[in-house]
Amino acid sequence: MRSDVLIIGGGVIGLSIAREMRLRGVGSVTLLEKGVCGEESSWAAAGMLGPQAEADEGGTFFDVCCESRSLYPEFAESLLAETGVDIELDQSGTLYIAFNEDDEQILSERFVWQKKAGLSVKRLTAEQTRRAEPFISPDVRMSLLFPDDWQVDNRKLLASLRNFADANDIVIHENTRVESLVNESGRVTGALTKTGTFLADQTVLATGAWSSLIKIGDDAPPFATTPVRGQIICLRTAKRLFEHVVYSRRGYLVPRSDGRILAGATSEKVGFTKGTTDEAASELRNMAFEIAPSMDNLPVADHWSGLRPSVPDGLPVIGTIDGIDNLFVATAHYRNGILLAPFTANLTADTLTDKSIEMRLAGFSPNRFQNAAVPFGRS
Ligand code: FAD
Ligand code: GLY
Repeated sequence: MRSDVLIIGGGVIGLSIAREMRLRGVGSVTLLEKGVCGEESSWAAAGMLGPQAEADEGGTFFDVCCESRSLYPEFAESLLAETGVDIELDQSGTLYIAFNEDDEQILSERFVWQKKAGLSVKRLTAEQTRRAEPFISPDVRMSLLFPDDWQVDNRKLLASLRNFADANDIVIHENTRVESLVNESGRVTGALTKTGTFLADQTVLATGAWSSLIKIGDDAPPFATTPVRGQIICLRTAKRLFEHVVYSRRGYLVPRSDGRILAGATSEKVGFTKGTTDEAASELRNMAFEIAPSMDNLPVADHWSGLRPSVPDGLPVIGTIDGIDNLFVATAHYRNGILLAPFTANLTADTLTDKSIEMRLAGFSPNRFQNAAVPFGRS
């Protein structure tokens, strides 16, 4: 089995890269997935495309997040044309609510820097906030409206990417765990699995939280990914209660078009243990009821968890590894993998086709943990 490009990992990152490679005319693309494609972190996510809502300053990471967000309208339109699946890009915007003095202070600072940077953000009084979202608590003090922070249905996105793969000769092997990469004198030539070796000219590692478990020959990769569990509860109403994604400093509510409201999310370092807890459900309910007390009697319709892939500085790990040819790493998208998928797919395809990576992205390099200085931190 030999391919031009071998992608390991069938989450939003691996599937988006596979699509982009085929769109650019790469002949044979194979994807290996240890379970079933799109059933890990990418499935568990809330689908927010919201770089501005949580950002306290600018910087390269912030710029890249905004760049990826701006790719979404075309990404959604192309996927609809290619696969018939509407990924429900919802451009209603995001509202960030303040309930106390601290909240207000933080939001005021966010408003000032983002205005100065020429970003689209509006300051709403309590009354304007309640006019925009009548179900929000009367205790609200003010809010910020981010008209360009959107949301997408990440599960529909995964379904669409999978349809694209099936219709475009991307060969997918599910239930195929990669044990290690084949390293021949500093050149990766494929991947070892229990069912055989998959050879390729180029290999892409897109294995999310599990990325640093895969050895390159006999060596561990030069970065260590850690899973950060996130739990979400889903409440259901007969019709859509909120227009916007609604944030507070204690969590977020993501209203879907069918009346579901996702209330998220926890951030827990519990290793590779997935699963849900009663404590988290009650914490998320409290967060939701602070935002909208009328949600008090809504039953929890669903509750799930996923493992965000992270490294210590919170930035993604995207690029090549010094001394290892024909391997590209695209992982550690942490809280922003859905948002960053089109950017990472483009960047991976650009690099695999012309072999250079923009200087401004050096801070995402897999080699940065071996170097003394990191050029910039997460903003
Ligand atoms: P995954 O989706 O985890 O995919 C990795 C794949 O690799 C998996 O399918 C896995 O089985 C496979 N794999 C691993 N090891 C191997 C192996 N050895 N061999 C073969 N296959 C292997 N992001 C946003 O942008 N917006 C949000 O609103 C948002 N909300 C979130 C809410 C929660 C609760 C969580 C948990 C995450 C959220 N995220 C959000 C983050 C986002 O989900 C992740 O950053 C993104 O899904 C990472 O994509 P991925 O493809 O790298 O990882
Ligand atoms: N980006 C939202 C989360 O990771 O929970």
